[in-house]
Amino acid sequence: MEKRIAVLPGDGIGKEVTNGAVAVLNAIGERFNHQFHFSYGKIGGNAVDTDGTPLPDETIKLCKESDAVLLGAVGGPKWDRIEVKLRPEQGLLKIRKELELYANLRPTNYYRSLADSSPLRKEIIEGIDILMVRELTGGIYFGTPRERTQRDGEDGALDTLYYSRREIERVVRTAFELASTRNKKVTSVDKANVLESSRLWREVAEEIAKEFPEVKLEHMLVDNAAMQIIKNPKQFDVVVTENMFGDILSDEASVLTGSLGMQPSASISESGPYLYEPIHGSAPDIEGQNLANPIGAILSAAMMIRVSFGLTKEADAIEAAVNHVLDCGYRTADIAGAGTDVKKVSTTEMIEEIKAAILDTEALLKIQNCYS
Ligand code: IPM
Ligand code: MG
Repeated sequence: MEKRIAVLPGDGIGKEVTNGAVAVLNAIGERFNHQFHFSYGKIGGNAVDTDGTPLPDETIKLCKESDAVLLGAVGGPKWDRIEVKLRPEQGLLKIRKELELYANLRPTNYYRSLADSSPLRKEIIEGIDILMVRELTGGIYFGTPRERTQRDGEDGALDTLYYSRREIERVVRTAFELASTRNKKVTSVDKANVLESSRLWREVAEEIAKEFPEVKLEHMLVDNAAMQIIKNPKQFDVVVTENMFGDILSDEASVLTGSLGMQPSASISESGPYLYEPIHGSAPDIEGQNLANPIGAILSAAMMIRVSFGLTKEADAIEAAVNHVLDCGYRTADIAGAGTDVKKVSTTEMIEEIKAAILDTEALLKIQNCYS
């Protein structure tokens, strides 16, 4: 198979972690005989510095001409004080809108060898398998008007939370489709006791549920959902929610398995290309120190080849290699915990270990048997 992948490393640790994903994809190409062609584009603060915009037109073009997009992270203190339209985050929001990436899939899985780095007890997190489906191109992130304004002679600010029926329908339908291939339960999270947009969301979710009689729909208020994710995360299968609730709840859910650095995501559209990115930020405090956890980006690459390219055994191989390396005790700083039997490694060492596990035929066969 031959595929074109646009790589947008972005800012902070983005470069270090996307390097890991590219190295692992090259190892997969070598091992399974595929050709992945990588082309690099700019996004975020570094694009502001060189091109005066967080999302240059060439980057948009590059993404649209590619089969899939791999993104690192954007943002950093250097650009915290610049005017709003130049903020690095605007580049990310714009690419999501340009590619019409309406649903962001954020899985949270259990890694048995990381159970001790979770802040929660093992009994609570053992075996969790949650898929958060976050609406990504609507809601308060994009609604207009959004402005500084005045009311009754006083300074204020305004953001708009708007959802059309169609926007809710498509993301909720995606959640149901995914749930029908999993444990057949959708938890739709809203704030229907207060927000009008949530009441519409709930109504639409009920309608879509009728198309999927085998899937159970449950509604949950967002404040309760925040509590239930900590109290009893095993109750969840697919969670679907609006943009900002999903942003907050997916960071919360990520901690269940040990670290934000472990979490991949896929953002999908009606027509493609899809975009894959770790859910963590640019972590400017550890930038360039070879400390970042590359696993979120590497697992994003696994999601890419599974979802966009249909390469199931290759994606399984990446996930098995990650599990194997973790079981062998290799840990970047964020997941090292207090354990004494762990082998603390740098970003590049972690990447090498995962690559080696993929390239070593015997090891891979053995670990695939263990994890399948
Ligand atoms: C995320 C991030 C972004 C978001 C920021 C960087 C704009 O937090 O992908 O979760 O809020 O969507
Ligand atoms: Mg976020």
